[in-house]
Amino acid sequence: MMCGIFGCILKNGDAAPIIHAALKRLEYRGYDSVGEVTIHEGKLFIKKDQGKIDEVHAIHNLDDLPGRIGIGHTRWATHGAPYEVNAHPHTDCNGQIAVVHNGIIENFSELKKELEERGHVFRSKTDTEVISHIIEEELKEGRALAEAVYSAVEQLEGSYAIAVVSAKEPNKIVCARKESPLVVGVAENAVYFASDIPAFLPLTNTAVIVEDGELVVLDDKGYEIRKLADGSLVSRKPEVIDWSPEMAEKKGYPHFMLKEIHEQPLCLRNTLRLQEQYLDLMTTFLDRAGEVFLVACGTSYHACLAASYMFSKLSMLATHPIIASEFVEQHGRAINIDSVLLAVSQSGETADTLEAVECARQRAATVLGLTNIIGSTLTRVARAYVCQQSGPEIGVAATKTFTSQLSVLSQLALRLAKKRGKVSHVEIEQLEEKLEQIPDIVEKVIETQEEKIKQLAKKYRDKQCFFFLGRGVSSASALEGRLKLLEIAYAPALAFPAGESKHGPISLIEPGFPVIFVCPKDDTRKTIVGNIMEMKARGASIIAVVEEGDEEVKGLADDYIEIPRGMPEVLSPIPYVIPQQLFAYYMAVERNCDPDQPRNLAKSVTVK
Ligand code: F6R
Repeated sequence: MMCGIFGCILKNGDAAPIIHAALKRLEYRGYDSVGEVTIHEGKLFIKKDQGKIDEVHAIHNLDDLPGRIGIGHTRWATHGAPYEVNAHPHTDCNGQIAVVHNGIIENFSELKKELEERGHVFRSKTDTEVISHIIEEELKEGRALAEAVYSAVEQLEGSYAIAVVSAKEPNKIVCARKESPLVVGVAENAVYFASDIPAFLPLTNTAVIVEDGELVVLDDKGYEIRKLADGSLVSRKPEVIDWSPEMAEKKGYPHFMLKEIHEQPLCLRNTLRLQEQYLDLMTTFLDRAGEVFLVACGTSYHACLAASYMFSKLSMLATHPIIASEFVEQHGRAINIDSVLLAVSQSGETADTLEAVECARQRAATVLGLTNIIGSTLTRVARAYVCQQSGPEIGVAATKTFTSQLSVLSQLALRLAKKRGKVSHVEIEQLEEKLEQIPDIVEKVIETQEEKIKQLAKKYRDKQCFFFLGRGVSSASALEGRLKLLEIAYAPALAFPAGESKHGPISLIEPGFPVIFVCPKDDTRKTIVGNIMEMKARGASIIAVVEEGDEEVKGLADDYIEIPRGMPEVLSPIPYVIPQQLFAYYMAVERNCDPDQPRNLAKSVTVK
């Protein structure tokens, strides 16, 4: 879903080196393959391959393409592994049209089938290639390029920022946007478009933000924006961007972590667009399993823990969430051909998780994967896998990838519930409806609570130690809140299911000890009120993450953060973890720690 796109029309000079340099600046959006196309004397010239930009450049010399007009792409695989054929740009049957795309076309299978029936020959496994063939069809009807793109996007479902060039109209680039970002850069001797401002910032700081549902035509005169809905002309003046290149890469946020926390609504929208057949395949394996192990490390393990509640409550499936580094010792000899191991790993490269996978494979168990990185080791060794489509996560602390994992796992649990007929249709429909609303709910939590959380971090910045408590599925999000805080703000913290506190940990409590309670209004709420009282009686400072309008808990708490009402229990960890991520982030800032690169940690832990 991430990917970076860029293109330019120059008055003079060669486009290729400019595109190459701009793609380098977009590399943080994806880096598994790269490609460029330029137009010269009515012909398209293309170079593309798998690998990082520098690797591809070393082999193909990306600067060596003729022409002053061109588009390029740096890829983050969503459909089709990162091979040369799947790298963008994608062309039509005759090599006359080239397309770069960032996003996901949900209905590409249906469109591809129709196009193949009409004789179109596909070279790649990507969703994007359908766009070039549809445009080819539209051009055959005698339309001009902009009109052809206009009618092509009407047929697409999903998200996209696309750019199209045609050998027949060699002085134009046509772009369109739905959800995926797109900006235009304007200079005296050139016009650019890109996924993000950093791509062209060293060339111009004058930008026009393209809004959702708009089509842009770039040519020697500049840019023209139209609404996709009715074709009407949009008049929008360029604005001057006063970001440094470093700030621009973070979209103006001071840290990647904060940017990624804010990206969660978008990422969650993308995880609702996963290809059904992959989810169905995983569900079939889970349904047939004799026993299911959910195996992961760190934050991904917390997603597994939450998933064990989802599978039990929705699909009546008992699963074992296991910390990967313990798997071989704990269950290695007990697994067999009837076992399923679902490995959850953002990077798909975590050594402990891969060791558990290897052990399962040797004992003929079925290995399933949930990962963010297509082409990672996990995708190669798993019998079936789902890619969570979160885009690259640069901050070391996992944030957006955690909530996306939860979304995918809840979708699997729901599917399995349907398949097993264990939950009523009405309940399933309600849950599906809520799942659709989650991106908006998360957006609202960030919008309405962030400032308050910032103030809380100021208030609690000097505390020595924290407790995070929750019951039921919320114990998983309490564990995650604790991990975030300790790893980036270096604040010692403990977390466990709230019922455990009276079995030992409560002896730590003294007046002013901060205890964060994660308490949605679910079946556990009544009992957790008792746990809050226990802590309060010993002088603890209570910070509660509560449902909006839960006056009882608000009355007990010293501070509270509110989450919109009506969240079904199994989905509640998604919005309820957001304030905890923000709290950890602002605590790190208050304590002068670098949230993006905490000491002693790495993004991908490839040693055991
Ligand atoms: C915490 C964090 C780590 C990872 C863990 C597993 O913020 O990022 O705990 O979750 O190292 O990594 P993956 O999911 O790549 O296997």
